[in-house]
Amino acid sequence: MSEQPISQLLNLQGQVALVTGGGRGIGRATAELLLEAGARVVIASRGAEALLAAGRELELIYGADRIIATPADVADEAAVASVMARTSERWGRLDILVNNAGLIHFGPIEAITPTSWAEVLGANLTGAYLCARAAATLMRQQHYGRIINIASISGQTGGVSAGVDYAASKGGMIAFTKTLSRDLAPYGVTVNAIAPGQIDADPALLSPEARQRVMQMIPLGRLGTPREIAYAVLFLASPMAAYITGATLDVNGGILKR
Ligand SMILES: NC(=O)c1ccc[n+]([C@@H]2O[C@H](COP(=O)([O-])OP(=O)(O)OC[C@H]3O[C@@H](n4cnc5c(N)ncnc54)[C@H](O)[C@@H]3O)[C@@H](O)[C@H]2O)c1
Repeated sequence: MSEQPISQLLNLQGQVALVTGGGRGIGRATAELLLEAGARVVIASRGAEALLAAGRELELIYGADRIIATPADVADEAAVASVMARTSERWGRLDILVNNAGLIHFGPIEAITPTSWAEVLGANLTGAYLCARAAATLMRQQHYGRIINIASISGQTGGVSAGVDYAASKGGMIAFTKTLSRDLAPYGVTVNAIAPGQIDADPALLSPEARQRVMQMIPLGRLGTPREIAYAVLFLASPMAAYITGATLDVNGGILKR
């Protein structure tokens, strides 16, 4: 790979990214950063109203010609196919897939029903599989692609509060990342995961006492921000990460050191 100046390394102009769950939280921060870096971005998520509102806000800043907001349940194969069709009809390519859509449930195994288990695994793991499968078809043809899976520290340590369904889905996502990286490497496609620790995506989620308790467990003494996960995504999507594949990047304030 030829050496490029740093401004060029962070420039995604001409590239197309799909961010699932891109209407809020980490997904929204990621979509914004990729737009700032020059990419055209598709955001796809459940919750049509909020997603379309986010799409309109982003259009005002970055221009309607650079955003598609398309409601979709990532666990639904037909919905994923329609997101991919819309993307390739409009822009003819897909360079970056960020599998970010996700769902968390809390509680002991007795409280997890087969239906709620399927919902969590569907959003977190089946969704990543369906999106990666559809994206891989386009990326293989281009002989270029970056798939970035937003896993979780819960998939590495079991976590401190999430249910077994969530931990299983995120652990599965890390294994999925490793094997898919092997399969797609010959086609110029890298596949990596990011394992966030506690991120301040929804400040209302934690009471002041719970926030204090969580912060005491984190060596850096604070929660991470959605934008700090977006920075890791941008790095993995950039030419700087061309030789990284099958990896899980920990962005957790030092809670887990491997
Ligand atoms: N916030 C954290 O502390 C944290 C920590 C580790 C990992 N993560 C992971 O990061 C990702 C984003 O987290 P967040 O905190 O921004 O969450 P969030 O709840 O704010 O956003 C998740 C998004 O995913 C969408 N979504 C859920 N199920 C979906 C489905 N079946 N189809 C399409 N869209 C669906 C939601 O509509 C929402 O837009 C998730 O995968 C989450 O597990 C978050």
